[in-house]
Amino acid sequence: MYKIPLSSTPINTTGLADILRAYEGQSVMKIVEDFETSLRKYTGAKYVLALNSGTAAIHLALKALGVGPGDTVVAPTFTYVATVSPILYLGATPILIDSEPTTWNISPELLETAIKEHLRKKSKPRCVIVVHNYGMPCKMGEIREVCDRHAIPILEDAAEAIGSRYQGSLAGTLGQIGIFSFNNNKIITAYGGGALITENEEIYRKTLFWATQSKEDKPYYEHTDIGFNYRISPLNAAAGLLELKEIDSRVAERRRIFDRYREILANRSGTTWLEEPGGHFSNRWLSTPLFSNPLKINEIMAKMNRNGIEYRRLWNPMHLQPYYQKYPAIVNGYAEKLFQEGLCLPSGNLADVSHVASVMNQIS
Ligand SMILES: Cc1ncc(COP(=O)(O)O)c(C=O)c1O
Repeated sequence: MYKIPLSSTPINTTGLADILRAYEGQSVMKIVEDFETSLRKYTGAKYVLALNSGTAAIHLALKALGVGPGDTVVAPTFTYVATVSPILYLGATPILIDSEPTTWNISPELLETAIKEHLRKKSKPRCVIVVHNYGMPCKMGEIREVCDRHAIPILEDAAEAIGSRYQGSLAGTLGQIGIFSFNNNKIITAYGGGALITENEEIYRKTLFWATQSKEDKPYYEHTDIGFNYRISPLNAAAGLLELKEIDSRVAERRRIFDRYREILANRSGTTWLEEPGGHFSNRWLSTPLFSNPLKINEIMAKMNRNGIEYRRLWNPMHLQPYYQKYPAIVNGYAEKLFQEGLCLPSGNLADVSHVASVMNQIS
């Protein structure tokens, strides 16, 4: 246990008890439905399916986009493993694409290169997954332009980006399907959970069916397809329902935390921060400085360990992971640079920032 965690939300026991009391005597699935309704209202999406993880949401979204054995799916190499592993669940092959420097997300140029290489071999990726790392929206306009030109659907992994916006539109609503995660360390948590959002009724119906063991609506058990046990539990949905009410203040708080770190550490030489390009509004899920002298990172990490401060390195790119390095990748070295030079700082509590920064400043 850390004295200062990376990103955690204590359970609001009074708030949760009030929510549960309000549903006394009703079907517990009403809580799940109401969580979905509140997500629908927040995002403006037509269909929302609440699930037990963001990973499950990616798995079902890929399946709904027709991904299967023999297919390829383009995904960023700079991401958490859960973006990529569901591609393998479906027997498809990931093509890992490097980042561009203005958002740290998938490079539209390298994406185009990947698609052109496919077309030369008379094939086409089944879909493109985009991620908004640490809350910073990817270059959606350019990515959409490439994908539209080649008629390839986009799955938007907005696991880290609830409340972020691109050109005014909420992350999660920017592709054919969007997903969120509500795991313990996210801005809005259900202490485990995820959601799939879409405008497409058929995708919603199919994914709901698969998420509930593909059980036909009959008075006996009949299964015409393989299914999964992926629905969110009512208790997690109750926590999510309570948390979602806080979305605007949580995003504002994370942005204040980011600004405060940047302010206090402004005079630290060789320390840089990712700016928001025009039209990009980040929820600043985690505050993630880069250090031009990576040797300093080891000293800072050791100091933080001694002070009970939790931190994380930035993502170790997928194409460098022992299990994933056998898959094709188009790289420019930027994701590897981010891994070597960056650190995720505790980002859940404004009151912790000056202490964390002063511990960091003990290493000059
Ligand atoms: C980019 C990304 N994709 C997917 C996931 C998976 O979400 P979950 O932990 O809810 O399965 C996460 C978070 O854990 C994530 O950061």
